Amino acid sequence: MKLVTIHPEHPDPGDIDAAARILGAGGLVAFPTETVYGLGARGLDPDAVGRIFRAKGRPRSHPLILHVLGEDEARELALGWNERTAELARAFWPGPLTLVVDRAPHVPAEAAGGGASIALRAPIHPVARALIARLGEPIAAPSANRYQTISPTAAAHVVKSLGDAVDMVLDGGACPGGIESTVVDVRGPRPVVLRPGGIDLPTLRSVVRDIEMHVASDVAQNAARPSPGMDARHYAPRGRILLADGPAHLAHLAREHRGSALAIVAHSDEARSLAHHVLPGDPKGYERALFTTLHACDDANAQIILIESPPHDERWLAIHDRLRRAAST
Ligand code: TXA
Ligand code: MG
Repeated sequence: MKLVTIHPEHPDPGDIDAAARILGAGGLVAFPTETVYGLGARGLDPDAVGRIFRAKGRPRSHPLILHVLGEDEARELALGWNERTAELARAFWPGPLTLVVDRAPHVPAEAAGGGASIALRAPIHPVARALIARLGEPIAAPSANRYQTISPTAAAHVVKSLGDAVDMVLDGGACPGGIESTVVDVRGPRPVVLRPGGIDLPTLRSVVRDIEMHVASDVAQNAARPSPGMDARHYAPRGRILLADGPAHLAHLAREHRGSALAIVAHSDEARSLAHHVLPGDPKGYERALFTTLHACDDANAQIILIESPPHDERWLAIHDRLRRAAST
């Protein structure tokens, strides 16, 4: 694996060329986006896409996101492009929004996990854009981490998780957003948020008023899985996460688990004196710091990670989603 340092705003064209050559030859390149690091491969090449699944240890039925420059390229990968889809793309692309549309026939089923839809996103990060432009094709890219582990927000996280399974890692520093894109299914009469993420619900609603949240049914999902036990954890660090309902509960849990290798994560003024990691009290700042902090807890070999539960407000939805998944055992 080759690790290359690259300027996040003005990437060196020679480095982009080298990375695009690896992709063109069917290889894997990890690169920074505004959300998390992506593990890229030629999106329309079934063999290259297959390497992504092997490197991540991810089931082939889990669909990937194709990264494009913008709406024109995206339309070519979709069967139809309704008014809602166009409105969302125009409002939020390039940026941390992924649209699930019907898949055009030339998009390989492998990229779509075998399904009839395909997820599309136009990232805004200059390194990601330069790479897509140089390759001249869509780049399939899930988060650049092993299946069910915390997404990478720094190149070191990619190296730690994937090592030599990836041919090149472009190190463009920390990802500015820190949490994955919002995934919206635009195939039905009303757009449905499948995964909350970098663009929050109130912001989406300002453009499409009738957008709705998909309510995940963990029971149904687990029942459909061949091996539910293996799939229980998502975005999970090695340490066990316990969520505390406010500062008093956090203090209580800290006393209860005294003696264990503890990491305490808080954001409120009341709880900060207890904490090893103080995260920002606003959702965007918190998102930027969350995965980096969980990686740090892992690196410190924390056995138990106590986290002060964030406010219950729509702007914190993506954070609650990630914390809930990370805490599920
Ligand atoms: O921010 C991001 O989205 C990052 C960066 C690298 O772009 N990528 C990312 O990819 O998070 P991944 O593969 O880790 O997560 C993709 C999400 C999953 O929740 C997946 O189920 C959903 O998008 N998804 C992808 N294709 C889909 C489809 N055809 N239908 C429904 N959901 C889909
Ligand atoms: Mg992922």
